[in-house]
Amino acid sequence: MMQKGKIGVFDSGFGGLTVLRAIIGELPNYPFIYFGDNARAPYGNKSFDLIYDYTLEGVKFLFNQGCELVILACNTASAKALRTIQQKDLPRIAPTKRVLGVIRPSTEEIASFTRSGYVGILGTEGTVNSGSYLMELSKISPNLTVFQQACPLWVPLIEERQYETMAGKMIIASDLEQLFSKNKEIDTVLLACTHYPIIKSMIEQTVGYRAKIIEQGPLVAAKLKEYLRRHPEIENSLGLSGEIAFFTTEREDYFNEHASEIYGTMIKAQQIQLS
Ligand code: DGL
Repeated sequence: MMQKGKIGVFDSGFGGLTVLRAIIGELPNYPFIYFGDNARAPYGNKSFDLIYDYTLEGVKFLFNQGCELVILACNTASAKALRTIQQKDLPRIAPTKRVLGVIRPSTEEIASFTRSGYVGILGTEGTVNSGSYLMELSKISPNLTVFQQACPLWVPLIEERQYETMAGKMIIASDLEQLFSKNKEIDTVLLACTHYPIIKSMIEQTVGYRAKIIEQGPLVAAKLKEYLRRHPEIENSLGLSGEIAFFTTEREDYFNEHASEIYGTMIKAQQIQLS
């Protein structure tokens, strides 16, 4: 019997685990494969070409593992590689498979959280400079006033587990103050990088009563559920084993230790090499 398909979740490193956790909470019965390209993270400060090449390699790996649908649980990859993969690569390499990102699901929902209409976006340099959030929000919610802040050191701090050091705390606080110095009326801040929910409590402590901090995992999970309802051809191609497998380009012991801490249960990953 032909094996049924899986859902792949791709990130540059640990960040996508925050999305996977939310997706599995919403859709626990499908089989999942998580792939973190930890050895080559962070992506945020890299060139467009490199991010595109790395992301496409990750997507192809997940397709070869039997994924019918891949979620780019990485804003940087969604901003820089998603459109080209959807429009140029998919029709050529896997016309029946799908790749989705995290920017659209977040921009569709963010307006429902703000009262002032002033929204802050925190992301990597790649995401912020791509202008993807500004572009999407100007179409979906043109009444919002949006302020972006790049936090180029946050992903390295999280990948290297350095965010609780004195320097780490100072960097995080200083980037947050820079965002609020742009406008005092910001009452909603979107964590537009899937690594950032890992330090959500630190962010909330620093921001205090000024704004609500919104993470993307639950938004992406709810939209994925809706997507599968609207696309029975994809839904029917998926298995129902509820299995989860983890792959990383880093050393397994390093990944397992930190991923288990972030994910909340023991993770046993397999190391792979891409190129
Ligand atoms: N989690 C990725 C994102 O959402 C981090 C990108 C990076 O590796 O810099 O943007």
